[in-house]
Amino acid sequence: MIRFALNGRSIDLDAAPGRRLSDVLREDLALTGTKVGCNAGDCGACTVLLDGEQVCACLVSLGQVEGREVTTIEGLGPDGDLSDLQQSFHRHGAAQCGICTPGMLLAAASLLRRNHRPSQAEVEDALGGVLCRCTGYRKIVEAVLDVTPTPAAKPPRVGSAVGARLAKFDGLPKITGGERFGADAFPADCLWLRAIRSPHASAGFTLGSFKALKRRHPGLTLVLTAADVPNNGFGIYPDIKDQPVLAQGLVRYRGEAVLALVGDRAAVEGIAEDEIPIKWEPRPAIAEIEAALAPGAPALHAAHPDNVLIRGLVKKGAVETGFAQAAARASTAIETSWVEHAYIEPEAGYARRVGERIEIFACTQTPYMDRDEVAHVMRLDPARIRIVPSACGGGFGGKLDLSLQPLIALAAWKLDRPVRCTYSRPESMRSTTKRHPARIRAEAACDKDGRLLAFEMEADFNTGAYASWGPTVANRVPVHATGPYRVPHVLARSRAIYTNGPPAGAFRGFGVPQAAVAHEALMDDLAEAMGMDRLEFRHLNALRAGDETATGQRLTASAGLARCLEALRRPWRRALSDVHAINRTGGALKRGVGIGCMWYGIGNTSLPNPSAMRVGISREGKLTLYSGAVDIGQGSNTIMVQICADALGLPVGAFSLVTGDTDRTLDAGKTSASRQAFVSGNAAKAAGEDLRRQLLRMANMGEAARIELGDGRVLLKESGRRKAIELTKLEPAGAEGDVLTGEGRFDPPTTALDKEGQGIPYATYGFAAQMAEVEVDCELGSSKVLRIVAAHDVGKAINPTQVEGQIHGGIAQGLGFALMEDYVPGVSENLHDYLIPTVGDMPEIEVIIVEDAEPLGPYGAKGIGEPALIPTAPAILGAIRHATGARIARLPATPERVLAALMAKGEKQTE
Ligand code: FES
Ligand code: FES
Repeated sequence: MIRFALNGRSIDLDAAPGRRLSDVLREDLALTGTKVGCNAGDCGACTVLLDGEQVCACLVSLGQVEGREVTTIEGLGPDGDLSDLQQSFHRHGAAQCGICTPGMLLAAASLLRRNHRPSQAEVEDALGGVLCRCTGYRKIVEAVLDVTPTPAAKPPRVGSAVGARLAKFDGLPKITGGERFGADAFPADCLWLRAIRSPHASAGFTLGSFKALKRRHPGLTLVLTAADVPNNGFGIYPDIKDQPVLAQGLVRYRGEAVLALVGDRAAVEGIAEDEIPIKWEPRPAIAEIEAALAPGAPALHAAHPDNVLIRGLVKKGAVETGFAQAAARASTAIETSWVEHAYIEPEAGYARRVGERIEIFACTQTPYMDRDEVAHVMRLDPARIRIVPSACGGGFGGKLDLSLQPLIALAAWKLDRPVRCTYSRPESMRSTTKRHPARIRAEAACDKDGRLLAFEMEADFNTGAYASWGPTVANRVPVHATGPYRVPHVLARSRAIYTNGPPAGAFRGFGVPQAAVAHEALMDDLAEAMGMDRLEFRHLNALRAGDETATGQRLTASAGLARCLEALRRPWRRALSDVHAINRTGGALKRGVGIGCMWYGIGNTSLPNPSAMRVGISREGKLTLYSGAVDIGQGSNTIMVQICADALGLPVGAFSLVTGDTDRTLDAGKTSASRQAFVSGNAAKAAGEDLRRQLLRMANMGEAARIELGDGRVLLKESGRRKAIELTKLEPAGAEGDVLTGEGRFDPPTTALDKEGQGIPYATYGFAAQMAEVEVDCELGSSKVLRIVAAHDVGKAINPTQVEGQIHGGIAQGLGFALMEDYVPGVSENLHDYLIPTVGDMPEIEVIIVEDAEPLGPYGAKGIGEPALIPTAPAILGAIRHATGARIARLPATPERVLAALMAKGEKQTE
C-alpha cells in the first residue's frame, strides 16, 4: 500500500511501486488531466508537481511519491475554482488544442510559487521542458507574465461578436484538465489493441500460426490480419485506395502495420516482438526520388510502373519569350526533408459495436471522411458508422488520414466488445504521414524596371509508399509556384513520386511551404541583380486586385500583399540599418534580415468543397449550433459561434455547441486547407440568417427587429412593437427535438483547371509578408531567430486573439522547418532525436493584421491556418544569406549545412 497526498487528499493505493505515476493517475485514479505525449521525458505533457516542484509524471514511479504531495491540473484551482494563472491562460488565448496546457500550467505554477514576479527569461526557463506544437509559446509566456485576478473580457454585445477578442468558447475544459482527448475516455470493458509494424522499409513477409502465441498468452483474444479486412485498401481519393489497413505479404515502408493484437492490455503489451510468428524477407528499399526514377527501378505499385503517382502543370504564355526579354535572370535548386507533424497527442481512441452499427471515438480532423473510409474498408453502409471526434491534440494535416480507426472498428465489430488503442510516440511518428521532401529547381527573370517576366519551376515531391495527399500537393504547387506575384509567362511542373519512405500527406501548406523557399530565393536574387531593395522588388511585383494569376484567374478583390509589405516597410528599414551597424563591429556573430511572402488558395483545389451547418432552438429556448467543423486547436468552435451569433442577432452566451459527431451534425468537410473560417464560416452565417428569417417571418417583423431568447419563448421587438413566439406550442422535429432549425450551406465557386492548368482553382487567397532578423554564429554555424514581424491579410479577423495565435504557431513550425526539423526513418522517431522548437527557440514576434475584406467571405474573412507558416522559412533563410552570404540549398539549415555553405562561399570567393 502506497500513501501520498494528491491534490490535498490522502490516497492509499495498492499498486506496483514501479509503475509510472502518469499511468497510475490516468488509469487507476481517472485523473486524465495529466496527458501523455511521449512516455519518455521529452514532451512535458505529463508535468505534475511533486512537493511543489515540476516533474514529468511519466518518469516518476509510484514508489517515489510515497509520503509526498502530488498536485495535478485537477488540483490547481482553489476549491475547484479557476486559479489566477488559469484565468490568465484563458484570457490570453494561451491554449489552442490544449493537450500541452495542463503541463504548461503546472510548470508555470511551480515557478510562481517560488517567484511571484518572474522575468520573461525566468518564465521561458521554467516552461523549457514542456513542448507546445500549436501556440508558438508567445501567448503562454504573456499569460504567465500577466497573472492577475482579472476575469476574461465581458462577452461582446449582440451584433458585435465578429471581430471581438472572445476567449475560447470551449476553452474552460482545456485549462482545468476536463478536455477529453482520444486516450481520455473509453468504456470500462474495453479491450486493448496493439499494432505490430514492419521494421523494414521494404520486405516480403509470411505469417505463421498464432495458436502457440494464444496458448502462451491467454489474455490475447484476437489476432487481426489482412484476411480480416473486407476491403483492404484506403486512401484520400475515391480512385486511389492504395494503402492497406494491414499489409498482405508485402510492406512498403518502415512502420507499416502487418497485424494487430487485441485482448487484455497487460497480456497484449507483454508479448515480445520476437514471439510473433512473422518471417521477414527484406528487400532493397528505394529511399530517394532519384532511385525511384532511375531506369529499371522496381515499381512500388503496379499501376505506376515509373513510380510517378501524378503530374501537375500550369502553363501560361511562353516562358522562352519572357526569358529572352530578360534584363536579369536567377535560378535556384533546393531540397527539403521529411517533416513530422509532432502533434503532442499521439493517435488514440476506441470503437464499440452498437447493434449493427459501429461508433468510433477518436482524434481526427475529418469525421465525415473517416466515416466513409471506415465504411469502405468494412464494406458497410456509411450510415452504419458513427464518428464522434474526441478533442484533437493537434493535427496540422496529420490527422486527415485514417490511422487507428479501421483497426479498432474491425476488432470491435468482430468481438462485439469495445476496443481501444493509443499509439506510442515512436509508433505515431513511424507510421503516420509526413511533409513531402521536395527537390525543386526554379528560374525567374525580370525586365529592366524589375518587373517579373518569366517563371519556370520543376518540383518533385517524395510521396513515400502510398498516395495519401500526394495528388493534392502535385496540383496545388504549380498554381502557387510563382509566389504572390504577377508573371506573364509561367511554366510550372510537379510530380509526386513513390518511394519506400513513410506516406507523405497533408502538412500545413500541401507543398506550398517548400515551393515558397524557391520562389523567395529567386526574388532576393533578382532584387540583388537589379540593385533594388528586396521588399520594394516584391512590392513592385505583388499581385493586386485586377491582376491575373498564373492560372488565368482575374483577382477581383481582396489581394492584400501590397498592404502587408507597406506595413513592413518601417520595421524593415529599421532592421536593415540596425543590422548594418551591428555587423560593422566584426566578430563571428553576424546579423541579417530576410523577407518572405506568400499567397495561399483557401480550400480544395478546383474541387467541390461544401460545408453545411445547422442551428436549432429547443422548446425550452435552448439555442444549439450543430457544427461538423472539427476544432483541432485553431479555434473554429469559437469563430463559428461568433459568426452565427451575429447572423442570427443573439449573444454568443446564448449558444451551446455540438461538434463533429456525424450523427448530430451536417457534413462541414475536413479541417484543412485553411478552409473552415471561409467555407464553414459562410455556412454558419447562412444557418444563422436562415433561422433569423424564420423568426422574423413568424413575428411578421422587419430586418431591423431585435431578438431575445426567453424561457420557452422568443421575443421580438421592432419600433416599439413586441411579439412573442411561444416555443412550447411548436412541434419538435428531427433527432435533436428542436422546434425551429436554420440551415446554411456554402461551396466556394471554383472551376476545373484545363490541361494547361488554366481556370479558377480557388475562390479566394490569403496573402502575407514576414520579415525575420537572424543572428548567425559563423564559427558554430548556428542560427538564432531574434525577431519576426508578420503582416497577414486575413480578409477579416473574426477573432484577433485567435488569428495572432495561429500566426505565432505557424511561425514556430516555419522556424522548425527552416532550421531543425529532419525526420529520418529509424533514427529520429521520438521527440528526443526529432527536434521541434521549444520556448527558448522562439523569437520576439510582432503581428500586423491586414483586413482586405473578401466579398465572398463571412464578414470578409478568408483564412489563416496555413498562411501563417509559409513565409517564415524563406524569411529566415533570406536573413541567413543576408548575414553571411551563404546560400542554403538543403533544409533544414542545420549548423553543419550553414558551415558547409559558408565554406562553399569562401571557396567561391577565393577562386
Ligand atoms: S509524457 Fe512524460 S514527458 Fe512526455
Ligand atoms: S496548445 Fe500546446 S500543443 Fe496544442
